[in-house]
This record gives sequence, C-alpha cells and structure tokens, in this order.
Amino acid sequence: MTIKPEDAVRYELRDGVALLTIDFPPVNAFGQPMREGMMLRLDQAVSDPVAEAIVIVGAHDRFIAGADIREFGKPKVGPELHQIFERMEQSPKPIVAAIDGHALGGGLECALAASYRVAASRAKVGLVEINLGLLPGAGGTQRLTRLAGPQVALDLILNARHVPAPKAKDLGIIDAVTDGDVTAAAIAFAKARLAQGGPWPLAIERTDKIQNVDPRIFEEVRAKNAKKWTGLVAPFEIVKCIEAATTLPPRDGLAFEREAFKVCLESPVREAQIHLFFAERAAAKVEGSDGVKPRTIKSVGIIGAGTMGGGIAMSIANAGLEVKLLDMSQEAIDAGLARVRKNYETSVSRGSTTQDKVDAALGRIDGVLDYQAFADVDLVIEAVFESIEVKHDVFTKLDAVCKPGAILASNTSALNIDRIAEVTKRPGDVIGLHFFSPANVMKLLEVVRGDLASMETVVSAMAFAKTLGKVPVLAGTCFGFIGNRILHRYGSEADVLLMEGATPSQIDDALKAFGFPMGIYLMRDMAGLDVSYRVRRNKAAVGELDMNSIFYNPIADRLCEDGDYGQKTGKGYYAYEGRNATPRPELEEKLRIISQEKGIERKPMTDEEIVWRILSAMVNEGAKIVEEGYAQRASDIDVAYAFGYGFPKYRGGPMFWAQQQGLATVFAKVKEYEARYPERWKPAKHLEERAQAGAGWNR
Ligand code: 3HC
Repeated sequence: MTIKPEDAVRYELRDGVALLTIDFPPVNAFGQPMREGMMLRLDQAVSDPVAEAIVIVGAHDRFIAGADIREFGKPKVGPELHQIFERMEQSPKPIVAAIDGHALGGGLECALAASYRVAASRAKVGLVEINLGLLPGAGGTQRLTRLAGPQVALDLILNARHVPAPKAKDLGIIDAVTDGDVTAAAIAFAKARLAQGGPWPLAIERTDKIQNVDPRIFEEVRAKNAKKWTGLVAPFEIVKCIEAATTLPPRDGLAFEREAFKVCLESPVREAQIHLFFAERAAAKVEGSDGVKPRTIKSVGIIGAGTMGGGIAMSIANAGLEVKLLDMSQEAIDAGLARVRKNYETSVSRGSTTQDKVDAALGRIDGVLDYQAFADVDLVIEAVFESIEVKHDVFTKLDAVCKPGAILASNTSALNIDRIAEVTKRPGDVIGLHFFSPANVMKLLEVVRGDLASMETVVSAMAFAKTLGKVPVLAGTCFGFIGNRILHRYGSEADVLLMEGATPSQIDDALKAFGFPMGIYLMRDMAGLDVSYRVRRNKAAVGELDMNSIFYNPIADRLCEDGDYGQKTGKGYYAYEGRNATPRPELEEKLRIISQEKGIERKPMTDEEIVWRILSAMVNEGAKIVEEGYAQRASDIDVAYAFGYGFPKYRGGPMFWAQQQGLATVFAKVKEYEARYPERWKPAKHLEERAQAGAGWNR
C-alpha cells in the first residue's frame, strides 16, 4: 500500500499550535512520502496565520527511526533530509520535537534541527548509523557536537548509544522530559517559550561547547580504537566530522559531513552491515507461521547449574522472568549461584549494569533440588551432560511433572531433538534451544526444530529468544545444526591445509586479517583439546571416524598424547605464558612427519589461498544446509555466523561474502577443489544453481 505524503505527515491545529503527526508505518522511517509530507506540512504550518508554533510528533508512541534504510544505494527521489532540516531551521516559528519511543539516526537529527526537544521519560535517542556502516549524514555530527560537546558526540555516535531521555537531558540534548503525554507537554512547552519570546535557539548556531577543544582528543580516540576499527570506514569518518564541527563554520561542517557520508555509503562495508540489519529481522520470521500465536512464557526451569545453566539463568532473569535453577545437590546449586553472582559483580565493576538491577535479577533466580518445582513453569531448558541416555532420563522426568502446554527444551549442541522428544508423550512441545557460551553475553540463539515440534512451539521459542534480547536463528536438527556443522567442515579443511604446508599460526593470522577476532587453532586451544580427543577416539572405536583417511590430520591427537591440551596445560597449537600465545616452531616438525606419512607434499601457501579454501568450505556447506532445508534462508547463516561465531559483521556473513565475490566465482573455486580432492569436495547443488542463474541467493 502506498501512503500519500499528506497522510504520512498529518496536520492539525491545536491550541494555536500546528501539530505535525508522522504516521508512516512500521517505524516512521524517512521514506520518500514521509519526506515529501514533512516539506508540505512545514510550509503549511509556517504559512498558517493561526499557528504560532510547530510541534512534530510521531503517531503510535514512536518518533522517527531514521532514514529509510531500504532506499540506500538506490537513486534519490524527493527532498533530501538535510533540505528538510534546513527548512526547519529557517522557520520563523519555534519548532518543538515531541519524542516518544525512539528518535534514532535521522530521527534524532530531525529533532536536533528543531528549536527545542521534549521527550517522554521512557523515550530513547541516539545516532546509531555506525551499526549500518554509516555516519549521521543529515547534520547529526555537527548539531550534536555543538549542542553537547565533542566528547559526548564521540561517545554517543561511535558507540551507537541508545540514550534514555533523562540522561539525554543531563547531556543537554533534550530540553524537557515528561512522564505524561508528550504531545501535551510539547504544546505547553511551545506556548511557554512563545510567552517568553524569541529568538528561537538553533543547535547549529551554538558555539559554547566547541570552544578551545584540544585536538588531541580525536587522535587519542583513533589510536585507542585502531584495532577494533580494522576494516571499517565509518568510525574514522565520524571522528573527522566531529573534529570538523569544532573547526569549521556551520555550513562548511554540514557540507563536510555530507561528503563523508558519501564515502561510507559507497563502501562495501555499508552494504554488508545493512544486509545484516535486514537479515537479522528476516531470521526471526518463521515460514508458514502466519496466524500462529506464541505461548506466554513468564517462568522458566533450568536443569544444570554449571557454567552454561548459570549463564542461561542470568540471561532469563535479566529479561525479568522467574527462573528455577535445578541441580542434583545443594553444593552444586550453591556453586552455580556463586558463579552467577561473581559474573554479575564483574559486570557491575565494569559499569555495564547496576547493583540494583543485579539484585533484582538475582532475586528472580531460585535454586531447587526437586523436579516437582517445575510443575508450574512455562518452559524448561536442560543444560546437562551431552548423552542421549542422560537426556532421556531428564525428559521422562519432565514429561511426568510439567503442566500441559509447557515447552520442554534441550540445550544440546549435537543430539537429534526428535530422538529426545520421542521419550515424552508430548513430542510437539519439545525443541532445541542452543545457547552459546557465555550464555548471558552471546547474542545468537539457535532454535532447533525437530520434525516432531509443533509450529506453536517453534514460534514460542523464537518469541522467547526475542524476549531475552537474543538473535534467534531457526535450524533443523541435522548434525551440528547450522553453526557447528559449518564450523566442523571448515575446521577439518583447516586441518588439511596444515598437512599441505600451512602452520596453525599462519591459518589463524590469515583468518584474523580477514576479520575474525581469533583464529580456529587459538579457539581450540582455549576450549581445550582433550574433550574432542576423547570424542574422536570413541567415534573411531565404533567405526564412525576413519583415522587412516588421507584427510584425517592426527596433529590434535598427537598433541593430546603429549599432554598438551591447550591453554590450560600451557601448550597446545601454541605455547602459553598466561594467556599470551606464541607459535611453537617444533609443531612444524610434527606436521612435516604427518604430511610425509600421508604422502602429501608440503608447499608454501598464501594467506589468500587459506582464506579462499576456508571460506569456500563454509559457503558450500552453508548452501547444502539451505538446500536440505535445515536453514530457512542463506541470510540466516550469515546471522548465525555474525552473532555467534565471530564472523566480521562488516563482511556481512559468509553467504553474503560469497555473493559479493560472485557465486559463479565461488562455485568455480569449489569445482577446482573438487578436481583436486573429489572425495572431500562435493559442490552444493544450490550453489551450482544460483551460480548458473547469475544472481544472488534466492532463499
Ligand atoms: N528504515 C527502513 N525500515 C526500517 C527501519 C529503517 N530505518 N527501521 C526499522 N525498519 C523496519 C524493519 O526492517 C522491520 O521490517 P519488517 O517488519 O519488514 O521486518 C520493521 O521496520 C520493524 O523493525 P524492528 O523489528 O526492528 O522493530 P522494533 O520495534 O523491534 O525496533 C527500532 C524498532 C528500534 C526503530 C529498530 O527497528 C531500529 O533500530 N531501526 C533502525 C534504526 C537506525 O538504524 N536508524 C538509522 C538509519 S540511517 C540514517 O538515519 C542515516 C541518516 O543519518 C542520514
């Protein structure tokens, strides 16, 4: 449905004030009709003889979510944001922005171009463009810096902070905060200022906060963040713009910002980050679920007070839900709760939460010893030992005590959910909730749907993830689900590269240079090599793993046989002093022997070759996952990797990366690897089809 400009921004006179109500669903983003509507209504208000002042408000308790992100990269049509804001500044009548909900990006920029800002106390404001690989390009860097000073602007814009209205008032961004109706408050505010008389203040004309700014603050912020900003464009441009606000006249500063915005807009980083923005929202949607309502979840039982169970308990209690944390002994519960308290203490000491919030959250976690305590809970999540027998025992007990309609979830990272569900009389209510460690921190939550799960259970689990502030991705119940299945595939490809001539540190360095926070071997060392060693031996014993295969690299087994389990023993793929890892030259000799045993010739390898092999393995496996229906769409894989596996967000995820390279190019690489290793590399049909179609992913 197309919305007309006059409907996108409505006009009404109230008590001698022109009320401009923005109503452009879903979130009042500045799409073309809304921009045209703003111009139209501003002119109408200025020329209306009855209107003495203008109030801009958003319908449905939300102000403006910023520019319309869908329009980026497309030809510009209609008035531009900066033109609207300049028109606002030229108004002879005072303009008050009445902010409820969110004023983000271009939304806050609009408010900053008004003479005054009145906000509901629950409202939040922020210039969050950096999350999209952009900068505030409609005057935000200039007006905010002039209003609140460069330090505040740097902090808010570089960290994409959503600032609560009362705090924004303390910072000088908001003029008044109300607990009542924001429109009424804004009209009253406008009338009070009218009574006092003009001139009406403009943020862009303020100079008091940009006097005597020490230019070293900009250099310091660049130096401090150099590592964090590797590969990014926007943060550097933002710093330049804020600096420009302190040195250039207003109109020159605005022009400078517009040029810097273009630099960001044209960079592939922007495309990748905007892809992820929409991918994250798409991932939350379940195909075929129209009309299915989620069940209400207010109380949750957790089984297992270990690190994982405790982390899950924290994230649930933080969201305001009641938690019953069960373990087998009081000692285990006490130890678990002590760990939870310690984690919270660390968060308070870092300033990431307050003691009051922690006390409230802790008050919602109750340690219990008896399954009967779960009789009334809406959802139970088990986080016990990964053994199908243990899970069967747990789910049989849950089936006996939990109320009808309660959802029974497993945090398994490996077992088939349907095999777990089968022991209950309610397999439709059983689902996988695969949290990532530390569960109170990691954003990704894989919701694992077995064939037996009902749509209502799936939808409820996805909604529950949102309640926790997690990013849910729906996976089918295949080996490793989405994330670990791909990890397993590219991990084993890395192991082959080690036999072909690479070293662990070379692979890790190549992945880091690509943008991963750490490489795969450092990650394995941190996790400890012993557990997977035991798993491999068990698998080999029952014929599930062929250790004699040419492609099986026994390096990890040899490390474990030497007692080198990784960071915890001081040696693994690296040697450690504390947490400091250094490469182990002696490993090269071990690898040389292995290559010889397997008859593989070692050759020098470039970082580019390493990255292509590993990324192609990820993409090919990802395409198989989509083709087999274990992921709903390719972009879900990007979301899982960006939010759970450290894939650099500025590259948009592995599937997006492939699309940027050209699917035909990636397919050609996969074919090249297949020619070399036909047993290992089977091109995904889906990749082949999409490469031949000459377009991107279609699902
Ligand atoms: N443009 C276009 N669509 C947007 C949008 C935007 N700015 N913000 C949200 N949407 C869409 C979403 O894609 C989603 O669409 P869908 O229903 O088809 O999936 C729908 O609006 C609802 O979004 P959410 O699910 O995120 O709704 P919530 O209520 O959970 O959150 C919000 C609302 C806090 C406003 C959140 O949507 C958000 O953070 N939006 C992005 C804000 C932002 O980044 N603004 C800056 C834009 S860039 C800019 O302004 C440049 C300027 O400086 C020149």
